[in-house]
Amino acid sequence: MSALFQPFQLKDVTLRNRIAVPPMCQYMAEQGVPNDWHLNHYASLARGGAGLIIVEATAVSPEGRITPNCTGLWNDEQAQAFVPIVEAIQTAGAVPGIQLGHAGRKASANRPWDGDDHIAEEDAKGWQTLSPSAIPFGANLSRMPKAMTLEDIQRVQNDFVAAAERARDIGFQWLELHFAHGYLGQSFLSPHANQRDDNYGGSFENRARFLVETVRAVKQVWPDNLPLTARLGVIEFDGNDEQQLEEAIALTNLLKAEGLDFLNVSISFSTPTASIPWGPGFMAPIAERIRHAAAIPVASAWGIDAPQLAEHTVAQGQLDLVMIGRAHLANPHWPYEAAKALRVEKPSWVLPASYAHWLERY
Ligand code: FNR
Repeated sequence: MSALFQPFQLKDVTLRNRIAVPPMCQYMAEQGVPNDWHLNHYASLARGGAGLIIVEATAVSPEGRITPNCTGLWNDEQAQAFVPIVEAIQTAGAVPGIQLGHAGRKASANRPWDGDDHIAEEDAKGWQTLSPSAIPFGANLSRMPKAMTLEDIQRVQNDFVAAAERARDIGFQWLELHFAHGYLGQSFLSPHANQRDDNYGGSFENRARFLVETVRAVKQVWPDNLPLTARLGVIEFDGNDEQQLEEAIALTNLLKAEGLDFLNVSISFSTPTASIPWGPGFMAPIAERIRHAAAIPVASAWGIDAPQLAEHTVAQGQLDLVMIGRAHLANPHWPYEAAKALRVEKPSWVLPASYAHWLERY
């Protein structure tokens, strides 16, 4: 029997299998408002059979967008435009999740296929970026961010809360806070970005403070019966890996005490000089370590496209959920291919009946 196709329950949410689509920005929104592109994209992914669909990094404030074309959830127009997307995911039998984030010093960028670099400072399309300290990321993202004041910190945390309330009110059932990939949450944790000398910088406790407070504040508005989760970069691959992993475990324990239910284990991406050992499923053993050390259910992504590898990570207790990203862009019906490869009984029935019946018959 396939472990990948066993249901997974967390709080009052039951996923039909262990396959999740990780957040993947589409860079197709205007003014943060999702449109037909997003509706078709997410409906198609949900019909493909995954248990959980996490909608792309959605900014809690205008300056928190990675690019001018990222989705947002700082106003009601954006919230209303998400309603049909939530419904389409649910109608297809998947659980609708959303990732809320703030891009920090990596914000105000051109789309990946338009250069993937910061928008030129003199270009009115761009904006002042925010970060714990006035230290640019570097390389293609060298715009100098403004060091956040205490008022900025408070305001962004309030923005996270307001966006979480909107996500709750329009029916998202799984909330992921984006604390990974060198964006704002990660930047507070990382000495690469955070050189503050107040309560939000310096010691581990201080660098963790923004993340701990944000989870605490969001927990006040997010329903107790629904999963409150985060994506955390637990390792930078910059030579200080062991210290980062130990801090990630300590932070996970702090966040658990604030009500975090689940961790999507990822990479830190806080410095352009990291040396990342890319390879199929290379993050799974690292996720497994967090899973055991912090006693929390975990997911991870990164190169787990082969059904046997996905099956292995769940069957061996490395991951509770497997995030299948680019393979879903290549084939939104990836779960059907996986079900066939893993010899699941009646594999076509991971798809909707109007496809499954015919695939089974002929
Ligand atoms: C991503 N990724 C990503 N991660 C995240 O936390 N929030 C996001 O919005 C995005 N956006 C995004 C867009 C696109 C087009 C890609 C390909 C990736 C990273 C993504 O969630 C995932 O971690 C990686 O794609 C690695 O998993 P796969 O693709 O190897 O399965």
